[in-house]
Amino acid sequence: MKTIPTDIRKQIEKLIAEINEHNYRYYVLDAPVISDAEYDRLFRQLQKLEEEYGYIPVDSPTQRVGAAALEKFEKVKHTEPMLSLGNAFSHDELREFDQRVKRFLKSEQDVEYTVEPKYDGLAMELVYKKGVLAAAATRGDGFVGEDVTTNVRTIRAIPVKIEGVHPVPEEIDIRGEVYMDLREFEKLNKSREMSEDALFANPRNAAAGSVRQLDSSITAKRKLHMACYGLGATKGTEFKSQADFIDWLKKAHFPTPARFYKAIGIDKVIDIIKKIEEERPKLPFETDGAVIKVNDVELQKQLGYKTREPRWAIAFKFAAHQATTLIQDIIPSVGRTGTITPIALLKPVPIGGVTVSRSTLHNWDEIDRKDIRIGDTVVVERAGDVIPHVITVIQEKRTGGERKFPPPQHCPVCGSDIEREEGEVAYRCLGLNCEAQVLEKIRHYASRGAMDIEGLGEKNVELLYSKGLIKHFDDLYRIKKHDLLDLPRFAEKSAQNLIDAIEKSKKATLARFLYALGVIHVGEYAARLLAKNFEKLEDLYQLRPEQVMEIKQIGEKLATSLAKFFNDKENLHTLDTLKKLGLSLSNPDFVAGQKKQKGPLEGMTIVITGTLSRPRQELEDLIESLGGHAAGSVSKKTSYVLAGEEAGSKLEKAKNLGVKVINEMEFDKIIKG
Ligand code: IVH
Repeated sequence: MKTIPTDIRKQIEKLIAEINEHNYRYYVLDAPVISDAEYDRLFRQLQKLEEEYGYIPVDSPTQRVGAAALEKFEKVKHTEPMLSLGNAFSHDELREFDQRVKRFLKSEQDVEYTVEPKYDGLAMELVYKKGVLAAAATRGDGFVGEDVTTNVRTIRAIPVKIEGVHPVPEEIDIRGEVYMDLREFEKLNKSREMSEDALFANPRNAAAGSVRQLDSSITAKRKLHMACYGLGATKGTEFKSQADFIDWLKKAHFPTPARFYKAIGIDKVIDIIKKIEEERPKLPFETDGAVIKVNDVELQKQLGYKTREPRWAIAFKFAAHQATTLIQDIIPSVGRTGTITPIALLKPVPIGGVTVSRSTLHNWDEIDRKDIRIGDTVVVERAGDVIPHVITVIQEKRTGGERKFPPPQHCPVCGSDIEREEGEVAYRCLGLNCEAQVLEKIRHYASRGAMDIEGLGEKNVELLYSKGLIKHFDDLYRIKKHDLLDLPRFAEKSAQNLIDAIEKSKKATLARFLYALGVIHVGEYAARLLAKNFEKLEDLYQLRPEQVMEIKQIGEKLATSLAKFFNDKENLHTLDTLKKLGLSLSNPDFVAGQKKQKGPLEGMTIVITGTLSRPRQELEDLIESLGGHAAGSVSKKTSYVLAGEEAGSKLEKAKNLGVKVINEMEFDKIIKG
């Protein structure tokens, strides 16, 4: 290892402090003072220095990106058990709680309470040793939780090192709720809808699902947040009250509840709760109530615990956001992946501060199960999931004039056939050119793993779509430079670059194209398998499912879906048009019409990192064509990490896992056999 010059060490530490401060301003205070670009610049500068000198302090923000995937979570015992709270469902029940507290304390005096929103997320314990985040554990059964340290480290709002307080306690366990804010939740579900992944029912499930990922790089992408509100075991510090503790948390750069009040006497507490409930629809996170705690820690100790709940705290549960209204009509709505969802058009009704006029009915199984009809009076709820749901039909209000709403026979947008896959609840439109789907289809087509058309990211696809330049799938290859020059975001050079990138994509590999088509169930891997077995695109025309099922690893679902796609007249017509527009795919898996013999990389998984002499995409295609698999992240199963210059965390991970690292020369040797 190189010795680190003192000035470099200082520079690294200064950058870390600086970036951590910006993190805190951005994620905790919500008040950034520098631009994202400037932040990225600092971050890269730090990354480069750390790599060059091999000096990575524990509190470095570069360590928040996630680490190698785990096999399972280890169990950890909480030093102090993590208990739950009793509930109060009415103001009267709160008064009873206050009476109990006073009786127990043998005091007539009004008690001082604190009031905080009750976050609807996942309870978490953060263990800090000598001021550094040493572990994070889920609540589990209250006594034993799961070690999710690497995942939690990716949550930017959580300090990796305690700042701003003196002295730093030798050990302190801080508790709180990990949650996903509503905007992030909606974004996540939208993107899951596009990639055909199951949606999360509410932000709590999304947060829990994201924390319990064995691959922490997934957690890192999920943008979780935390609100700290509680104390576990401590060594070397004490707090007089909950309010003191919250103040300390703030000083030490921890994220705390968005609202925090002190109040003497239960009546004041109730006033505050009413205020929070009024604010509830405007809060950026999901809250299902308020938590009331006796402020004074001495009194908390006197009150103690009964079985698994503290006597000094209680959760007040807000009423569910519900209302009764009329279903005026039901319409089918086509999503961006072709899924057809029945939507109830409601007589507008205010629920929890928002006027609701539509509600998803999810699918036709759900309509049948709840026997929902046009003209029905129903109970609608806006729960954690923001999207209103019909809970139940009020049968007594039926007049006999209600009408059933059967699934449509054709797509209401493009008229294509509709399919319902066996075992699935959703009906889907099969049209490649369905306007409801074109935008998303093209976005996927141009994306990195697919045709990799540089400059055609999400924003530009939307721009081209909104300006009417792409209505059909094949319109992409009809775009002319002068069309682009009319658009706000393009100048001479950028327009030319995009035209060149689109042109280049015409020569992509069959494997990439098959993936880019976005056929249901055909992912990158399946597309590669297909390209190993079918030489040309036309070989797939009028495909029978049995033909595909001969390929080992390909199952019936995929085969059926693929066959359906390649038997649809309209789709085949579009493919022919693409060819007329110049699409000319290559297939490196075939030589002179013959399947290539097993390649020298057969069965190997290779991860590329850093800057190499050839473009990454070219290397990935090469690996695939030689029988290998080019993966994105390093795990124990990785055969080699091919590292170029400025290789980053993947190199680090490879070293940690003992995966063999090779340079380009060694790689060339291997592929030459
Ligand atoms: S204090 C000893 N404060 O609600 C009890 N809990 O229903 C310590 N929760 O397990 C809990 N927001 O996961 C507390 N501001 C808040 C909270 C909160 C959400 C969760 C927590 C707890 C559950 C009980």
